[in-house]
Amino acid sequence: MPLVLALETSCDESAAAIVRDQTVLASAVASQVEEHARWGGVVPEIASRRHVEALPQLIEQVCRDSGVTMAELDGIAATAAPGLVGALLVASVTGRTLARLHGKPFVAVHHLEGHLCSVQLGEPLPPGPYLVLLVSGGHTELLRVDGPGRYLRLGRSHDDAAGEAFDKVSRLLGLGYPGGPAIEAAGQNGDPLRFALPKGRVSRPEGGFYPYDFSFSGLKTAMLRQVRALEAEHQAEHQAGGEPLPLADLAASFEQVVAQVLVERSCRCAREQGLGTLVLVGGVAANRRLRQLLEQRCGLDGLAWRVAPLAYCTDNAAMIGVAGAQRLAGGQSSCFDLGVAARLPL
Ligand code: KG4
Ligand code: ZN
Repeated sequence: MPLVLALETSCDESAAAIVRDQTVLASAVASQVEEHARWGGVVPEIASRRHVEALPQLIEQVCRDSGVTMAELDGIAATAAPGLVGALLVASVTGRTLARLHGKPFVAVHHLEGHLCSVQLGEPLPPGPYLVLLVSGGHTELLRVDGPGRYLRLGRSHDDAAGEAFDKVSRLLGLGYPGGPAIEAAGQNGDPLRFALPKGRVSRPEGGFYPYDFSFSGLKTAMLRQVRALEAEHQAEHQAGGEPLPLADLAASFEQVVAQVLVERSCRCAREQGLGTLVLVGGVAANRRLRQLLEQRCGLDGLAWRVAPLAYCTDNAAMIGVAGAQRLAGGQSSCFDLGVAARLPL
């Protein structure tokens, strides 16, 4: 039952947590989103600086909240890839330094493995293997999970990640950053069927389509066209007091088609690959429409389903702690001179 201090600074959330196996003893996240919102997206230089400021206090806080001392820890884990290099370095160097000073093993964690482990912070999973739909700001992947470290990618996005599509469409609609929560709030009372939008298929060179892959760039363009057409209509009617942009319906329609395409292809993949459980993780997993649709569809298809607890969908250190504890329990640790990497396959 390894007791782990975990650190996460791969993008725009600074986070620390103390985890014993799959139990969170303390977790703290300092979000920078308000600062980046002014620029419409994450500014890497600002992200690194804010991590440097926030991380020491977060470490102090989780140690205080849990009552755990450095001496009691079995190891220290930090995200080492993928992400913004300058941002990743903050948790990685801090973690390795603390580990060295206190004579503890250091565990470098892959950020996506952390997301995969986030579901373990909720209800227990049925015995594997299972299919995971991982949807975040940088990734959209369908992964068969056979156990810790045993992952097989069955599907992916060929262009934008689902979260990225939310962020770009939100900017287009003037709803701000981060796009997911902004679109969700704007679309809450909107009509999800008002605008017909494309589901983005990916063609195979030999003909036909990749059944489990995704493409969101066409959807983004379709949204842009729709907005332009509505704006032109509005301008033509302006003297007569025409309606401004129907943001609620646009947001709801966009959300609906993204949720549909994600759920339909994931359920199909689970069925065809003989996987009885579908798991949803990553920042976009916080989306209510997506969670509901997944639950409904899995019910119809006779699949078991699990969704990461809401608090652990977007970036946090507790999920990094679970992944780190798992690796430590398996006898693994990392060398102290390990670097970080912007890109690294799982
Ligand atoms: O997992 P995450 O925190 O960071 C990455 O590893 O990328 O995911 C962030 C992404 C952002 O693109 C954000 O817009 C999206 O998750 N997101 C959402 C929601 N909350 C966050 N997307 C849809 N609905 C939400 N409620
Ligand atoms: Zn993430």
